[in-house]
Amino acid sequence: MIPFSDRMEKVTGSAIREIFSLLARPGMISFAGGNPNPETFPSKDVAEITAGLMESAGDRVLQYGATPGTASLRESVCEMVGRKGISASPDDVLILTGSTQGMDLVTKTFLNDGDVILTEGPTFLGALQTFRTYRVEPIGVAVDDDGMVMEDLEEKLIATKAKVIYTIPTFQNPTGRTLPLERRKRMLELAKKYGALIMEDDPYSDLRYSGAPVPTIRSLDDLGDTVIYLGSFSKVISPGLRVGFAIADGKIVRKLIIAKQGTDLHTSNLSQAIVDKYIRLGKLYPHIEECRSFYVRQRDAMLDAIKKYLPKNLRYTQPDGGIFIWASMAEGEQAIELFKKSVEACVAFVPGEYFYPDLSGKNTFRLNFSMCSPETIDEGIKRLGQLM
Ligand SMILES: Cc1ncc(COP(=O)(O)O)c(C=O)c1O
Repeated sequence: MIPFSDRMEKVTGSAIREIFSLLARPGMISFAGGNPNPETFPSKDVAEITAGLMESAGDRVLQYGATPGTASLRESVCEMVGRKGISASPDDVLILTGSTQGMDLVTKTFLNDGDVILTEGPTFLGALQTFRTYRVEPIGVAVDDDGMVMEDLEEKLIATKAKVIYTIPTFQNPTGRTLPLERRKRMLELAKKYGALIMEDDPYSDLRYSGAPVPTIRSLDDLGDTVIYLGSFSKVISPGLRVGFAIADGKIVRKLIIAKQGTDLHTSNLSQAIVDKYIRLGKLYPHIEECRSFYVRQRDAMLDAIKKYLPKNLRYTQPDGGIFIWASMAEGEQAIELFKKSVEACVAFVPGEYFYPDLSGKNTFRLNFSMCSPETIDEGIKRLGQLM
């Protein structure tokens, strides 16, 4: 067997792959995944748009395209992020094959072997995998009920000289927490003071069910050279289309374009054209409203069920949006042990330790509410309560 590269040797697949293999069991109620619910997919619209594109623009959408993405979609993205207070011109936008590609390109572009990247501890598993593939070491910054703790961030910026902070400030994966405005401003100040970039990953902010929107960190970055903002259509149209985008300073975008050329040349023209048409037909914002009305029932069902069935000393987040709730048992308790029992009772979730760069947080676990109906959520949490 030919040996794997040094880079790939130590990278294993997702730590929770085994968990996902258990989900196929008949009757399993899964709070483990993080997929958007297929009932929200606008399949009929996508079918009509695709048929129209094939008739009128097949020669264009089936051809190679430009690396930055189509001019039309980049304009649409500028209009869309403008609604979040982000001012951007098409030259500041790079269309990505999912925002996951943004994490990959930013890591490839800015970080060397052995560098450190600061993340929330816990953070998104996919990001951890990307960083490790480039032999970049993720170090978790302490979090509290309001997300990343700025005093710890400053200490770690000084101690590690990290060049990049990766953050999911709104409806974070895995905790569902949202970083308040004051901390966003402080993070920006710290990043500027210590010469670090902020990679702001924001796939969930459109899925807000309660409370007022909090400005993106990118919108607070007056010179636009400190924050690279990553957005995605995965949770509000479809993840299978694989369309996301980065917004950054033009000089950074130009370097990311070079990094992308060697990766996939460009994001699928067909997918880009479908997303752009969907936006330009005025369908996106009403659809986001529909997604919100759909998921809010599931969030409420899960919060109600937790209150009703789970132990009173369990601490858990009550997110205003997104698709995750984060639970913490008493110190010393092991979510893995609960997981083993719950799988026997046909209920799955993800033990929290996998989301920590240092595998701490053994007493925590993540519950996803996007995939099950309110009735199934009630049943699943009831079973979990019996086990706990
Ligand atoms: C925090 C976070 N970022 C990015 C992604 C992936 O998004 P995309 O489908 O755009 O690659 C996810 C998906 O679960 C996520 O939770």
